[in-house]
Amino acid sequence: MIIKVINGPNLNLLGMREPGVYGSFTLADIEAAIKALGEELGCQLEFFQSNHEGELVDCIQACRDGVDGILINPAAYTHYSYAIRDAIAAVDLPVVEVHISNIHQRESFRQRSVTAPVCCGQVVGFGADSYLLGLRGLVGIIRRRRKEA
Ligand code: DQA
Repeated sequence: MIIKVINGPNLNLLGMREPGVYGSFTLADIEAAIKALGEELGCQLEFFQSNHEGELVDCIQACRDGVDGILINPAAYTHYSYAIRDAIAAVDLPVVEVHISNIHQRESFRQRSVTAPVCCGQVVGFGADSYLLGLRGLVGIIRRRRKEA
């Protein structure tokens, strides 16, 4: 099972970016934790981060080729990127959206996700653990779908 982990803009700055909101862990720390959980769950992880909307769309589209599911933190694009929403809808793969912070507790513009309605689920507010919880949920969905097929 191959899972693509996609991170959007400014998440490359985790560790130094607003630590009061996003914690002091880095993206490399998160990726290492996801990889360790992936080994436990028997799946292979591939990582991608970009600050550019089109590159994120390209990456989502490329997942049609050999990827079983996507774990994505679209970052600020969550709130307004119809292009990323349409790419998620187009690939017809299970996608789980994650956020480090609880977007529902924050500014009103962050409380709306245009991408969540085309995802299987959303995990918010658990810090770096949002990714690990999201990965567990995603793997469960893929396994159930395989059994049903
Ligand atoms: C975020 C929340 C977004 O509103 C913000 O733009 C981010 C990070 C999160 O993980 O909490 O960049 O996606």
